[in-house]
Amino acid sequence: MTEERSTVLVTGASRGLGLAIARDFAADHRVIGVARGELENPENDPALTAIDHRSGIDLGREQDIDQLARDLARCDKLVNNVGMAHDGILATQSPENIQQMLQVNLYSVLYLTKLYLRERLAQRKAGAVVTIGSIVSQRGYRGLAVYSATKSALNGMTRSLAREMGAKGFRFNCVLPGFIQTDMSDALEDEQRQQIIRRTALGRLGRVEDVAPVVRFLLGDESRFITGQEFIVDGGLTA
Ligand SMILES: NC(=O)c1ccc[n+]([C@@H]2O[C@H](COP(=O)([O-])OP(=O)(O)OC[C@H]3O[C@@H](n4cnc5c(N)ncnc54)[C@H](OP(=O)(O)O)[C@@H]3O)[C@@H](O)[C@H]2O)c1
Repeated sequence: MTEERSTVLVTGASRGLGLAIARDFAADHRVIGVARGELENPENDPALTAIDHRSGIDLGREQDIDQLARDLARCDKLVNNVGMAHDGILATQSPENIQQMLQVNLYSVLYLTKLYLRERLAQRKAGAVVTIGSIVSQRGYRGLAVYSATKSALNGMTRSLAREMGAKGFRFNCVLPGFIQTDMSDALEDEQRQQIIRRTALGRLGRVEDVAPVVRFLLGDESRFITGQEFIVDGGLTA
């Protein structure tokens, strides 16, 4: 008998870490990716053609998230990967930038997860959620006060939902990457980058492929007794 493939929805999946996670799952799951932008040249890569990509979805807008209700209804697993950062000291951050980070990094994750749970509960089905946080949620970083506030809130969301929904068979965990080579970390100054590498036990920045297998593990059956936890993937930067 062939086993039915699970479906996983990955937010922020047009590039960077989200794309790597979606690509990794595409080997043996049905994958729905979500972002504002399109996948770049999917026709050149069979792993990308397997991803059911929803472009034109701005997760900063509740009405765009509402469009995903039908997709969420058929998702066994959810990866809350979307995230963005405006760096700069809080004293000079514009209210618009603060609002946008709260909206995209925090509100969208709460709202999307709420819809996912609503759809799963309506079908009396369980599930598993991994949320991508950051080590700055635990350690802080100069110039990332708002960003780290949103990421710390996601850790709290994860622990509370683990308790709230555990009896219904749902698991929630966070993956906290260190500095990973993507468009987001391109914003680092060269001096900052060198300092991070010097302080990292394994002596390099992370790669998206270092993180995706941890997400896979946390959404798979092998982690069935793990919930409400934060997993740091940072090459020993915070060791
Ligand atoms: N890179 C790092 O060093 C690092 C470290 C710790 C944690 N993280 C976290 O890891 C996650 C992925 O980061 P990354 O480095 O892969 O970032 P990235 O390269 O900037 O990619 C971000 C992804 O999110 C999507 N996105 C951004 N704003 C969106 C919006 N309003 N609506 C829908 N999609 C949106 C982007 O697609 P579109 O632009 O096409 O919408 C893109 O697919 C984030 O949660 C980030 O906070 C990253």
